[in-house]
Amino acid sequence: MKSDLEAALVKTDWTPAPSDQGAKATKKLLVKSFGCQMNVYDAARMADVLAPEGFSETAAPEDADLVILNTCHIREKASEKVFSELGRLRRLKEERRAEGKDLRIAVAGCVAQAEGGEILRKQRAVDIVVGPQSYHRLPELVRLAADGPVIDTDFPVEDKFNHLTPPSEDRIRTRGLTAFLTVQEGCDKFCSFCVVPYTRGAEASRDVERIVAEAEALTRAGVREITLLGQNVNAFHGRGESNEVWSLARLIERLSEIDGLARLRYTTSHPNDMTDDLIRAHGEAAKLMPFLHLPVQSGSDRILAAMNRKHRAEDYLRLVEKIRAARPDIALSSDFIVGFPGETDEDFEATLALIRAVDFASTFYFKYSPRPGTPGAEREDHVAEEVKAERLARLGEKVEAQRQAFNRALVGRTVDVLFEKPGRRPGQIAGKSPYLQAVQADGPDSMIGDVAAVEIVECGSNSLFGRLTEEAR
Ligand code: SAH
Ligand code: SF4
Ligand code: F3S
Repeated sequence: MKSDLEAALVKTDWTPAPSDQGAKATKKLLVKSFGCQMNVYDAARMADVLAPEGFSETAAPEDADLVILNTCHIREKASEKVFSELGRLRRLKEERRAEGKDLRIAVAGCVAQAEGGEILRKQRAVDIVVGPQSYHRLPELVRLAADGPVIDTDFPVEDKFNHLTPPSEDRIRTRGLTAFLTVQEGCDKFCSFCVVPYTRGAEASRDVERIVAEAEALTRAGVREITLLGQNVNAFHGRGESNEVWSLARLIERLSEIDGLARLRYTTSHPNDMTDDLIRAHGEAAKLMPFLHLPVQSGSDRILAAMNRKHRAEDYLRLVEKIRAARPDIALSSDFIVGFPGETDEDFEATLALIRAVDFASTFYFKYSPRPGTPGAEREDHVAEEVKAERLARLGEKVEAQRQAFNRALVGRTVDVLFEKPGRRPGQIAGKSPYLQAVQADGPDSMIGDVAAVEIVECGSNSLFGRLTEEAR
């Protein structure tokens, strides 16, 4: 299965939102996002922040006056992709110049943070480099860029979230019935393979009041499902009104009270931050979906220690047992890295054993990619590329079989589906199960936005087919 990270390397294709500014909208903006869901959230907020400046969104680079590449640095391939994109944009910019027009190019996100001014050296067509903590300053940067290239990769003292323009109801509506909401950013864990603590900075949580207001605004505009986001979302420790610290569990409980909101999810979590109250929330909060992404990376204690994950394989297995005891129908997904420096065949077998023991509903898996500035990259015992490839294929086979078995086991069962759009064929509607599987069923378009009980009758390789139950019809 392609990971959501890899899949997101392809342009994030939301429908361009209409401009809030009516006649004032004279310029066109394209934000192309790579990497994780937090980048998808950020991309939407960048468009929101630029809307009052007269920018409306377009999906076509040829129409754009400003293209923002919202980049990802997590693996070498993701990072390199930016420069091939920039090469294409430079040619477009030259064509524009020949016509006497201009195209401004901005690089935002994690590559911008990691490489800063280096980007301008590698690709002179770039006008703006802006880090993930500074994009609320985009309007000013766009103005400054008229006089030459600008860079802003500070970690400013002000919280960018407090300086962002909220989207109008119209804009929210065009983005669909499900929405991301970033509640926490950054990471203090410093896993030895990972760039995130360097590109996103220290862990910080948004204030509860602002999160609740944003969730309420989304719901008012018709959003039915919200996924709370953070690089380490279960380390959330936002401040409440009287300055007391809220846990993620408490936040979920509060957001569950919002009328009209049907579903809540959160991602991504670190096993060590799965606190008892959060586990309990899985049994108690009815709107919290029984699907948890809980990356473990490896099943070998030696490799887990070398990765600085700060728990053993056994701890993870015990945690899974506790979560399943709280919510027996919960399904789990995870991330794995194969070929971390020093990984032996025995270590890899331990990873396969953990996979067998847990039985995941879906899994993302990657070959270790040495990242500049991380301790893992400094090691001298790197695993050969062919060995990584072979392990990736073996692991892939195993987890793919688990994913298909999980999907097949749903045939004959009834699950709730949130219908989000018309289906592939006329008369069909399409939505998602609690486990994020795509489900198609015969039903009227008027049911889009509803959560309805569906009996699963068939399982394809990438979607399930179902029939609305008597009561749902
Ligand atoms: N904060 C999350 C995920 C961050 S990145 C967490 O802690 O789980 C998403 C995934 O990318 C990671 O879980 C890991 O599996 C993968 N990843 C991160 N750095 C990598 C690297 N250098 N090489 C290969 N995969 C990597
Ligand atoms: Fe990266 Fe580890 Fe932090 Fe996740 S917990 S973002 S893998 S350093
Ligand atoms: Fe990539 Fe940055 Fe997200 S490195 S995975 S875009 S936090």
